[in-house]
Amino acid sequence: MKFKKRILCIGAGYVGGPTMAMIAWKCPDYRVTVVDVNSQRIDAWNSKELPVFEPGLDKIIKKTRGKNLFFSKNIEKGIAENDIIFVSVNTPTKTFGSGAGKAPDLQYWEKTAHQILENSTSSKIVIEKSTLPVKTAAAMEKILTPAKGKAKFEVLSNPEFLAEGTAIKDLENPDRVLIGSHETKSGRKACQELVNIYARWVPRNKIITTNIWSAELSKLVANAFLAQRVSSINSISALCEKTEADISEVSRAVGMDSRIGNKFLQAGIGFGGSCFKKDILHLAYLCNYYGLPEIANYWESVIKINEYQQERFITNIFSSMFNTLTGKKICILGFAFKSNTGDTRESPAIHITRKLVAEHAHVTISDPQALKNAALDLADIHENIKYEEDPYRATAGCHAIAILTDWDLYKKLDFRKIYKSMTKPAFLFDGRNIVDHKKCFEIGFNVYPIGKPAMSHFKIKKKSTISL
Ligand SMILES: NC(=O)c1ccc[n+]([C@@H]2O[C@H](COP(=O)([O-])OP(=O)(O)OC[C@H]3O[C@@H](n4cnc5c(N)ncnc54)[C@H](O)[C@@H]3O)[C@@H](O)[C@H]2O)c1
Repeated sequence: MKFKKRILCIGAGYVGGPTMAMIAWKCPDYRVTVVDVNSQRIDAWNSKELPVFEPGLDKIIKKTRGKNLFFSKNIEKGIAENDIIFVSVNTPTKTFGSGAGKAPDLQYWEKTAHQILENSTSSKIVIEKSTLPVKTAAAMEKILTPAKGKAKFEVLSNPEFLAEGTAIKDLENPDRVLIGSHETKSGRKACQELVNIYARWVPRNKIITTNIWSAELSKLVANAFLAQRVSSINSISALCEKTEADISEVSRAVGMDSRIGNKFLQAGIGFGGSCFKKDILHLAYLCNYYGLPEIANYWESVIKINEYQQERFITNIFSSMFNTLTGKKICILGFAFKSNTGDTRESPAIHITRKLVAEHAHVTISDPQALKNAALDLADIHENIKYEEDPYRATAGCHAIAILTDWDLYKKLDFRKIYKSMTKPAFLFDGRNIVDHKKCFEIGFNVYPIGKPAMSHFKIKKKSTISL
């Protein structure tokens, strides 16, 4: 079949794979190729067991793979043959040298730019899909300037706003698509080319076009705002625990204000995932770079509260279980950083498990999708750790359960059956506030939610009211 357009995506990860699958599905007359340096990933995309778990993804892959969607290891050929190139490589935080732990590590991005330059003999539109610091397009253009022959490059910024766990829904029906371009004739022409792709299924009023720097910055800011809401409600959950206010009631009351809204107002053990922390770190790094340390400090506090929330959770487990965890069996229900994904990058479960094991607890980890990744994250721990997908088998014989991921499955568990199989007194630490606390308490559990009074069968001395 002769295709109308040919698109390449460099980087076959959580963003590159699903995003290109959606484009291929919605534009059957476009040929879409996804390439990656990681050959195992490409093999997995070409197999039955996809490297990314996302509800609905497998169905779209089935409809498109081998027809107009291809996964390939041949990056050079891909660049040479395609005129529209998305770059969706990883942009982690630097772990070495200057800016370690703060600055973005742009080595993958830069390598890609050089590869594009070396393998291009015709003009191309290069699209930043990765999340990048504002002004990266300028660096990209510098690398691409000495192109061979008459080849010219137009760089666009098209940051991705999908959320893992709902990626397909988000891609099919996005709140908005953002495209940043230079305000030149060639910039606007390239922008229109990309608008035409999305306009196949996204209403035109949801496709926003801006200048390229606004687009780059907007993505960092969107993630920073989302993370900030999580830290804001979590900070209040700590105050609720001291005052007998209930965080769910406070969230509801606050969120019903239409100026505030009710999304991202659920207290829990804090955010994880590969993006929020790194994007805030990079935003703060940029602020410092541009001589704005006060702004950098403001955003860094969002990360500090996130870490504090996890520490509070661990301290609560420790102190509630009589200040010793040695030899006690604790079941972690949920290791993914959120439900409906197998992704464990920056999952709070990693830190919490490590702390529990350091206290010589015997930890069993259960998760419907993330056990493979959990085992990789904890590969250096050889003792006192077990993996068991079945939550009933995982909890049997345990002293305590810690719910760390908001999987639907955990809301529906038979806690009476679980309680019977556990060592008594049985503890339940609900790090996501997803189960019926009153019911679990009545079954016999000592229940410790986030931002609500603990429900314990032991006698607790109540703190008296504040003296004014
Ligand atoms: N994961 C998310 O939810 C999400 C959402 C929006 C935006 N983003 C952003 O999108 C970008 C990609 O994120 P991801 O989660 O898909 O990362 P990922 O690590 O899952 O995938 C990146 C892929 O790029 C490949 N790669 C690196 N250098 C390469 C090169 N030179 N040539 C070919 N392939 C190369 C890696 O092997 C990897 O498979 C990041 O900038 C991230 O911040 C992520």
